[in-house]
Amino acid sequence: MEIIKDPKQIQDLTMQLRCSDKVVSFVPTMGYFHEGHLSLMRWARENSDIVFVSLFVNPTQFGPKEDFNRYPKDFERDKNLAEEVGVDYLFAPEKNDMYTDDHCTWVNSPKLSQYLCGKSRPGHFQGVCTIVLKLFNLINPHIAVFGEKDYQQLVIIKKMVEDLNIPVKIVGRPIVREPDGLAMSSRNAYLTEKERKEASQIYKGLQKAQKWVKKGLIDSESIISKLTECYMENIPSGEIDYIEIVDPDKLKPVQKIKDRAILAVAIYLGKARLIDNIMLEVKK
Ligand code: PAF
Repeated sequence: MEIIKDPKQIQDLTMQLRCSDKVVSFVPTMGYFHEGHLSLMRWARENSDIVFVSLFVNPTQFGPKEDFNRYPKDFERDKNLAEEVGVDYLFAPEKNDMYTDDHCTWVNSPKLSQYLCGKSRPGHFQGVCTIVLKLFNLINPHIAVFGEKDYQQLVIIKKMVEDLNIPVKIVGRPIVREPDGLAMSSRNAYLTEKERKEASQIYKGLQKAQKWVKKGLIDSESIISKLTECYMENIPSGEIDYIEIVDPDKLKPVQKIKDRAILAVAIYLGKARLIDNIMLEVKK
């Protein structure tokens, strides 16, 4: 595996590759790899000829009071894991090589960013869209792979690619979970032992909601209020940021589930803000 830090060097390489007959895939990450990241890399390995992974903790997607400065890092470990799963190129640029002091061009998706995480993290998706587009321009991939845990991010990136005619296919891959159901996240490292135990209740709550829907409860307000109660009882150290039931493509809250909807949650637990989601389907 080759490590490249210089954006110009990687762009020269990928422009040549794009004209070859090789299929290039790309997994953008902020590092501190867990099985979720590795599953995306494995999928990329199996479905393309050349696999690029980026490792860059993107400052512009963090709010001023968020965890940019303490975001977990372990470059040596990440490098070894990426190599083990067969990544060909690890792109790990420095902040100043990605953003000059006078950077002033941004990509925005206000319609889709007004919901869910966009409400409590103003500017977050502007930072995500901007860095992802910059990375696409540097890596020139045919395929880019994202995890479904960041469901809103996935929907926004898909729409950005469609709206801006970016020549890349976006692939979403399922959430990878710990044995007790907690969605894998680099931020799980912030949890104390007690918080970690409570965190497993996040997914258990989502599964309960899925059962309520299967039994015929389709009114979002009732589902959200039952789930709120369940979280308040089982995650006493947590603070709910949001519980929402939204259209899977438009992300707009739905009052009644007609066919399919996404139940998405964000919970502050200790130093972590954890997100998770599940598809709710109405039995026909
Ligand atoms: O999902 C992430 O890790 C980040 O938001 C991404 C896509 C790498 C952009 O910084």
